[in-house]
Amino acid sequence: MANVVVVGAQWGDEGKGKIVDWLSERADVIARFQGGHNAGHTLVIDGQVYKLNALPSGVVRGGKLSVIGNGVVLDPWHLIKEIASIREQGVDISPETLMIAENTPLIMPFHGELDRAREAQASVAKIGTTGRGIGPCYEDKVGRRVIRVADLADPATLELRVDRALVHHNALRLGLGLEPVDKVALLEKLNEIAPEILQYAAPVWKVLNEKRRAGKRILFEGAQGSLLDIDFGTYPFVTSSNVIAGQAATGVGLGPNAIDFVLGIVKAYTTRVGEGPFPSELHDENGERLGTRGREFGTVTGRKRRCGWFDAALVRQTCAISGINGIALTKLDVLDGFETIRICTGYELDGEVLDYLPTASDQQARCKPIYEEVEGWSQSTEGARSWNDLPGAAVKYVRRIEELIQCPVALLSTSPERDDTILVTDPFED
Ligand code: IMP
Repeated sequence: MANVVVVGAQWGDEGKGKIVDWLSERADVIARFQGGHNAGHTLVIDGQVYKLNALPSGVVRGGKLSVIGNGVVLDPWHLIKEIASIREQGVDISPETLMIAENTPLIMPFHGELDRAREAQASVAKIGTTGRGIGPCYEDKVGRRVIRVADLADPATLELRVDRALVHHNALRLGLGLEPVDKVALLEKLNEIAPEILQYAAPVWKVLNEKRRAGKRILFEGAQGSLLDIDFGTYPFVTSSNVIAGQAATGVGLGPNAIDFVLGIVKAYTTRVGEGPFPSELHDENGERLGTRGREFGTVTGRKRRCGWFDAALVRQTCAISGINGIALTKLDVLDGFETIRICTGYELDGEVLDYLPTASDQQARCKPIYEEVEGWSQSTEGARSWNDLPGAAVKYVRRIEELIQCPVALLSTSPERDDTILVTDPFED
């Protein structure tokens, strides 16, 4: 039985929602393994729109187990609100359908405050974070001072954990001109939500190992995109977790051999939210056109996304790093009507040609894209359900992408509607 990992292969916002929903219908377990409520996953099912940040996409489908793994950082207050709003839409969420790893780090209000205070400092280059405390919480996890789900069960342990975190944070806050954290008020807030969160707490590693042995299908739902990976992304303009496929195993407590197929989600052009290098970015009417046609506004922060041509060198790189077996190519229809289309195949740096993005950030910023121009198409590709429905030039574009990224297309998505998909390889059956 195949277990599938879905990862974004660019800078996030590749259109994972629809693909994950399509796959989750056929999975038994859907697990988030990294990131937090910095993610914004929009699902459209039977005309109903569901907006998820922290909850795995599987929650909106009955009869599935949704899992928040230890690789995630969880804001418990946000989760409670998200559960309430999804319940209002008629979705049943209970400890039978939702499980949170006991060793999941919790995002505290002071993490968000620190995130935003740092971003507001004019003396340092902004990262353009979502301001939701993701980075500071991961820092505390590695710094061995984070408060975890299991700590909520015992008030004495919880107080010890809070003390440990505050020694660090209050010193930091002093330097940033922020008031010290009110420990008593924080403990009160935590004790108040503890029962609500603890009802979902479970040894996820154990449950998933058992599910795996019982032949259940697991879908690992990645958030963000590989170029925002803490190690392999465009550092320091990245998120604070490993978002690549290898993280799926450590982020829930399964071995790497639990992963059978890695599906990379790839948009037919490139976008990025926040700061950082973006070699194929367009500052002209073509960029505007991609943004408008593609409705490229952030679902979490509402920010306008930066847009550019497809960067095959970058996707070739992320396919290699995540071991992507096949890609789901999304939003091809946004390119309808362009007379010619450009594909970035590599970079020119100080007179040299590179077929990958170098690591040093100053070099990344100086990389000039090398383009190849291909013919566009005037017909609409929106809603196409077979290769025959696509204009020849669009098929050629897709085939050229496959060649350049050295990875085949498993799925082609031609509109937000779930049935508007051309299936080449079923990741669960491969
Ligand atoms: P953080 O994850 O809030 O720390 O933000 C770090 C960087 O990751 C910023 O450039 C954000 O815009 C970006 N980012 C975080 N989550 C997402 C996402 O789900 N989609 C796209 N970009 C994201």
